[in-house]
Amino acid sequence: MNAVSSTQSAVQSGSRWTIADAMKIRADDPTTTMPVIDYAFPVIDSDVWQWDTWLLRDIHGKTVTFKGWYVMFALVADRAATGDTTEGWHSRNNYSYIGYYYSRTGNGADWKFGGRVIKEGANSRSWEWSGCAVMRENSANTVDLFYTSVNDTPSESVPSYTTGRILADATGVWFEGFDVCTDMFQADGVNYANIVEDAYWDFRDPHIFRNPDDNQIYALFEGNVPGMRGNFTIGSDEMGPVPPATTVPAGAQYGAAAIGIARLTSDSTRGDFSKWEMLPALVTALGVNDQTERPHVVFQDGLTYLFTISHHSTFTGNSTGPDGVYGFVSRNGIFGPYAPLNGSGLVLGNPSAAPYETYSHFVDPAGYVQSFIDTLPQPGSADPQDPATYRIGGTLAPTVKIVLEGERTYLTEVHAYGQVYAQGVWPTSSAFDKRS
Ligand code: FRU
Repeated sequence: MNAVSSTQSAVQSGSRWTIADAMKIRADDPTTTMPVIDYAFPVIDSDVWQWDTWLLRDIHGKTVTFKGWYVMFALVADRAATGDTTEGWHSRNNYSYIGYYYSRTGNGADWKFGGRVIKEGANSRSWEWSGCAVMRENSANTVDLFYTSVNDTPSESVPSYTTGRILADATGVWFEGFDVCTDMFQADGVNYANIVEDAYWDFRDPHIFRNPDDNQIYALFEGNVPGMRGNFTIGSDEMGPVPPATTVPAGAQYGAAAIGIARLTSDSTRGDFSKWEMLPALVTALGVNDQTERPHVVFQDGLTYLFTISHHSTFTGNSTGPDGVYGFVSRNGIFGPYAPLNGSGLVLGNPSAAPYETYSHFVDPAGYVQSFIDTLPQPGSADPQDPATYRIGGTLAPTVKIVLEGERTYLTEVHAYGQVYAQGVWPTSSAFDKRS
């Protein structure tokens, strides 16, 4: 389709994750591999399944405590509703809502589940999927919660937001508000594929931040390259510098992931996050992978680190890699150009002995990485993917630390299950500094 391909070349000004980059992915490299988790891992709260998790933070990305409490938000589903079974775990997306937890110490052992955040009925669609929770600048206790509002019929996936207040005393943390939900933006079919172009389109996981270079507020999100699914031509730009005689592998054209970005044009000081300008993707993975989920950013040493999670199952053509977190680095600020971290893009993957043990890794500004446990093979099991013997997680994995050194990353530390660290406290006097 001519109209679609001319649109594609018009908007594809971003960087590429190429087939040549993905060829450099090495499984089980100790610097980029999660430790094998103990089969006897602890569970934070066995009444709910917990998966994608994000910490209370400021608009610059710093994790903050509120009145001395660590606060985390997560997608959860009630085990009583799904069934406390393997099937229940795998059906969780159809029961998903945003819950919260709080802890005095940040140690995984003492998280308390606090319940639902968004008022029941306020989200006009069926489910609440991933996003982020940001303390409003210049406010003592306003929280803007960004999330994905997802519907089954009609099929919809819309980055959205809702606002409330966080409250705490010596005994715990609770919330008020979060009773009005507003759409942010939708897949436009021009910068990002919509459902008409791609029945498997992804459009979700808003991550909001203030860009240090221009002081503007942006949203990162998961998207797909615009165009009809499977109708892409994989050329030398998508292949990258591959060995001689490498031909385009069959099926590569079904990989069309994009790390999306939009700029806020409404007035955030009034809590209005309803108007955004859609911009071309920062990184596209055309020919390589069909999903780059939960994109987020870390600014360090003048470099911009862009992280995203992806699955083994969404690589296309001959490309392959583990479930885990991948990343790209720019020396020129948020708009790139980006180079794949570690040459390949792989930052932390699951070990081949436990290929689906963790997912949804989130890298904080100090390099601490949280993830959830998915399915953990029984030690010695002949088939690590055998549902009869693997243990379902639905709780947080051990936190690990990575060091970011230019274009390289290194796994350096393994911490406790669900351990978190904060880089700031709230309220602070600087929270009220308009120049922040
Ligand atoms: C990542 C993810 C997100 C989505 C959520 C749904 O694990 O697929 O992209 O918002 O999980 O459960």
